[in-house]
Amino acid sequence: MQGPGLDPARALAQISTQWDGDIVRQLSDYIRIPAKSPGFDADWAQHGFIDAAVRHAAQWVEAQKVPDLQLEVVRLPGRTPVIFFEIAATRSGGSGQTVVMYGHLDKQPEFDGWRADLGPWTPKYEDGKLYGRGGADDGYAVYAAIAAVQALKSQSVPHPRIVGLIETSEESGSPDLLPYIDALRSRLGDVGLVVCLDSGAGNYDQLWLTTSLRGMVSGNLKVEVLTEGVHSGDASGLVPSSFRILRQVLDRLEDSATGHLLPASFHCDIPPERLAQAKATADILGDDLFKRFPWVHHDCGGREQSVLPMSDDPVEALLARTWRPTLSVTGAEGLPSLKDAGNVLRPFTTFKLSLRLPPLVDGAQAAQQLKQLLEDNAPYQARVTFESHGGATGWNAPSSAPWFAQALDAASQAHFGAPCGHIGQGGTIPLMSQLSAGFPSAQMMVCGVLGPRSNAHGPNEFLHVPYAKRLTAAVAEVIGRMP
Ligand code: BES
Ligand code: MN
Ligand code: MN
Repeated sequence: MQGPGLDPARALAQISTQWDGDIVRQLSDYIRIPAKSPGFDADWAQHGFIDAAVRHAAQWVEAQKVPDLQLEVVRLPGRTPVIFFEIAATRSGGSGQTVVMYGHLDKQPEFDGWRADLGPWTPKYEDGKLYGRGGADDGYAVYAAIAAVQALKSQSVPHPRIVGLIETSEESGSPDLLPYIDALRSRLGDVGLVVCLDSGAGNYDQLWLTTSLRGMVSGNLKVEVLTEGVHSGDASGLVPSSFRILRQVLDRLEDSATGHLLPASFHCDIPPERLAQAKATADILGDDLFKRFPWVHHDCGGREQSVLPMSDDPVEALLARTWRPTLSVTGAEGLPSLKDAGNVLRPFTTFKLSLRLPPLVDGAQAAQQLKQLLEDNAPYQARVTFESHGGATGWNAPSSAPWFAQALDAASQAHFGAPCGHIGQGGTIPLMSQLSAGFPSAQMMVCGVLGPRSNAHGPNEFLHVPYAKRLTAAVAEVIGRMP
């Protein structure tokens, strides 16, 4: 039998006090640690920042003295560490299933463009926003998870068994995670609910359930034509440009006029339920969907104009950023900075590619296909190599059990005074497809604070603290209602 439920107002008040008095300060310390993911810091082990972030968070969890909580920092040789905690169930009945809570403590690199008074490693708390790298993506997750459990316990609401899995290679595609899952498998138990606090929000006015995530293939595409640079006047016209060859090779992948990706295998059908949800979400968000991006405005012959989105239809825009594949070039080598660029026909051009895949496309297969597509039959017999960093598969949420849908709505109503929204996300969380495959009947509460302007990965990343508080309380509410 289910015991008495949470008093939501009391839960939110307690959680709010805890955020203001403690968690914001903890996260400020965390922001100061440049715990860049291994993909952006090859010497992460020597630098010790990931370790420092893990120790800092683990110490805080231990200091909470949550009854029957056991924490372990698990370390497999040569791999980034994982925080694993277990909290015994406080109820005897129920399904006996386990709740898994997930987050990550590794970060993206700095990027540029930070406001003059802000920076990636210098926290600033202003107007309810905590600025700095990794606060929102995803340092807050472990604090929110524990605070939600504490809210349940302080009202003596019986809860199921809960485990936490906080990893440190997510921003590199979670290459280290599977061995840990294998090692911890028996301690995960029979997973009935996954709470993943690493996702986004459509706005800050309601709880948002993530209905899907995209997958991704990334890697470096290099075109080499010469062993060293030569005078561009002397050579051009005879020696083919590595940049032009790169364009030709990319034309196999993407229609540059529309951004449409050409291989059919990189596309998938959109389930009807997702279409209907996109329509409902477009009605809620309307133009805000477009306003969440910092578009360039400029003068064109005396007329002020703005850069246009790829589609101005909100439903199409929602679907395009979540259910369609896209190509981004995120970095380059072989191109001197402008001030150093002489008239040289450059020996090579390398682009870092980030290919987003729709939720139902297999990431590993797509990585193989992409390599073949780009490398085979190179123009002018140039040396063309695609060095893949691997593929991550996206995720489509299982259909919601009635208790879960009701719990989400109740939580959103209690803490936001609005129903729970449903939204697909364009980002990737590699573990979710693996968890869904391993625990097909688990309900997945994939939520997060990455709402409008929060700008994870870019400059001026912020954590919206009022939203984080309500999300924390919503997590407590949903766990308290798990059958
Ligand atoms: N938290 C993000 C994923 C995300 C972003 C979900 C926005 C929902 C909205 C996560 O930390 C992330 O950035 N993942 C990487 C994964 C990649 C390295 C395989 C990403 O999407 O770039
Ligand atoms: Mn994240
Ligand atoms: Mn991220």
